[in-house]
Amino acid sequence: MSLSSNITVVEVGTRDGFQMEREFIPTNSKIEIINHLIKTGLRNFEATSFVSPKAIPQMRDAAEVVSGVDRVPGLCLAALVPNPKGAENAAKAGIDEMVVFVSATESHNKSNVNRTIAESLKGFESVAEIGAKAGIPLHGAVAVAFGCPFEGNVAPEKVGDIVERMHALGITAVTLGDTTGMATPPTVRQTTRYLKDRFPEIDLALHFHNTRGIGLVNVYAALELGYRRFESSVGGLGGCPFAPGATGNVATEDLVYMLKELGLDCGVDLEKLIESANLVEQVIGRTLPGQVMKAGPRLRRYPPQNHAAG
Ligand code: COA
Ligand code: ZN
Repeated sequence: MSLSSNITVVEVGTRDGFQMEREFIPTNSKIEIINHLIKTGLRNFEATSFVSPKAIPQMRDAAEVVSGVDRVPGLCLAALVPNPKGAENAAKAGIDEMVVFVSATESHNKSNVNRTIAESLKGFESVAEIGAKAGIPLHGAVAVAFGCPFEGNVAPEKVGDIVERMHALGITAVTLGDTTGMATPPTVRQTTRYLKDRFPEIDLALHFHNTRGIGLVNVYAALELGYRRFESSVGGLGGCPFAPGATGNVATEDLVYMLKELGLDCGVDLEKLIESANLVEQVIGRTLPGQVMKAGPRLRRYPPQNHAAG
């Protein structure tokens, strides 16, 4: 077994995480958090969504957030775009990549974007035109790719049929989203192998939620298969407002810690990242699920505790 090096970690906390927060997070806090995360070495962000403010009020400041981010070299700021209106707004805001997304099951797609899968895919054609005109590449994302809270198991062929349509629009990189943490190492292997056989030219990224405590186990399974791009949320923020029981993504600092301990480079400073997670916790005002942010790296030293007998 040889694990590939040069891993890309894509931070999705300010999108996937914040969309779940009821209280509106001030725009300047969102910007401060992204800029703090950039200082850790992270360069790939799914920073926000250009969605309907009625559907996700938390994302109503998408354009302002984008304009406040420090544009360091190598930065790729992506945003979720559900329809042509979102694409126009994202292009105006100067986004680097548009993420078009659809669920692998009809019931999840309906509850998420109020459309059939066919309608969503049809809409991507106009988004692709807007992207092409603005010179902004598209990235595809398939939600509930490893299981759906309404329909159960998802056949790899179903995901494949969506990827085929995305590919026809010129999309060459696709994220498989485990929206409600239903993936397991066998399903990760099954689905990615199927897709790799059918679309050898497509780059896959993996997006796991830790809903059932095996997010990092799934990352490890994907690393063994040679995958190198993983999405995660600082502090383990996250969830999907349209999927019952959804909880946070794999925590970015837990992922970075594991990669580091495996000898895999992702260019991120773990200590600084833990500071970012603490900042997010302060802003959100409640304890986040990330574990390494609490315990620190394994060789962090603590002063011995003197127990007074008594
Ligand atoms: N940005 C801003 N506003 C938008 C918009 C966008 N991308 N798309 C639609 N709107 C506005 C419309 O202008 C309209 O406003 P109005 O009522 O003032 O005229 C309203 O939203 C409804 O538009 P409509 O086209 O009928 O959309 P809808 O109500 O069927 O909702 C989506 C469809 C896709 C726009 C909406 O469900 C959505 O944004 N979902 C996002 C879901 C998401 O991000 N999920 C998390 C990711 S897993
Ligand atoms: Zn997610």
